[in-house]
Amino acid sequence: MSYLTHLECAHCEATYDPAELHRLCPVCEKPLLARYDLNSLRRAWQRSSLAQRAPGLWRYKEALPVESQAHMFTLGEGGTLLLKATKLGEELGLEQLFVKDEGLNPTGSFKARGLCVAVCRAAELGVDGVVIPSAGNAAGAMCAYAARASLPAHVVMPRDVPAPFLLECKSFGAEITLVEGTIADCGRRAGQIAQASGWFDLSTLKEPYRVEGKKTMGYELAEDLAWELPDVIVYPTGGGTGLIGMWKAFDELEALGWIGAERPRMVAVQAEGCAPIVRAFHAGATFASLWEGAETVAAGLRVPAAVGDFLILEALRESQGTALSVAEEELLAGQRSLAQAEGILACPEGGATLAALRTLCRQGWVEPHEQVVLFNTGTGIKYPDTLEAATS
Ligand SMILES: Cc1ncc(COP(=O)(O)O)c(C=O)c1O
Ligand SMILES: [Zn+2]
Repeated sequence: MSYLTHLECAHCEATYDPAELHRLCPVCEKPLLARYDLNSLRRAWQRSSLAQRAPGLWRYKEALPVESQAHMFTLGEGGTLLLKATKLGEELGLEQLFVKDEGLNPTGSFKARGLCVAVCRAAELGVDGVVIPSAGNAAGAMCAYAARASLPAHVVMPRDVPAPFLLECKSFGAEITLVEGTIADCGRRAGQIAQASGWFDLSTLKEPYRVEGKKTMGYELAEDLAWELPDVIVYPTGGGTGLIGMWKAFDELEALGWIGAERPRMVAVQAEGCAPIVRAFHAGATFASLWEGAETVAAGLRVPAAVGDFLILEALRESQGTALSVAEEELLAGQRSLAQAEGILACPEGGATLAALRTLCRQGWVEPHEQVVLFNTGTGIKYPDTLEAATS
């Protein structure tokens, strides 16, 4: 049973009924977040009960928004491995370096978590179809869960999306629209398509439930590490949904009494060719301004404006974290190192986290005894061009 009670605007704190379909806060156009009755849940749910449950995202169903078992569709999302990266750790002088390998999810990325929950909840609330703007991974994930939940799907991707993403969406039977430009242009087009068709637009953070799926990375990481969070989390940040979700998860876990008050330092990694959050963080800004001419092979990081920018920046600051960008050659080298030293065929976004960690170690921002977790957010296999570039 879900303990969902209401939706709350992350900016103006207005509250809304979660039994209705909602997108952004109608008052201030900022993201809505799902809130739960954590006081009751604290009494009803002990972390020791998890031992009896199957691995994966639905093991945390009390803290997820889907009410009925019949709508908890699954393809085996979550339950990814936290791999110790011994060789890279030695090279960087770190005793405890880990990689949370989200490439092990269905459809090969962490987007499966967010889209699993968002599609299930949208189906439960009775939508006729689902629409998404995506750099590729989110589209594939949405199409898979839409097929599973018997909903028609329409995806909007940049024209230069790598071919595997296109073929994946086609295979799941989705309608596809290709758009000149970035995810921001796709977002505008997806909005028009949703309006015309009456289908529900699942743009990240413009509806409240993708972030709920992504927060399970935080629940799972805490469980992987026996309820002691790491010192540092390095996360490749586009829209920032995963980072915002984990930060939310840690507060929920503390309210449940499953972890203490300590938090990891959160690090947002972006590409030099598109780094609005890095720029805003170092300028001390509350919101990030639009990044003009966004360009990077790490398609998931080519997000010129993020609707949850203020939430990312808040999490970075509250956690005493930081934000930094890496060059294209560095993220490709990171991809190569993860493959050759650890056997992890990472996406370029995952490669970027290793590149950033190299800089942080060099600067002494991370110390040798600290426990560090890199998020490899997807498999590299869907990006043939970056694999080619990383190995030539
Ligand atoms: C592989 C990969 N990593 C990272 C990101 C950025 O994710 P977030 O929106 O959580 O910042 C994306 C988004 O498209 C992605 O596909
Ligand atoms: Zn609001």
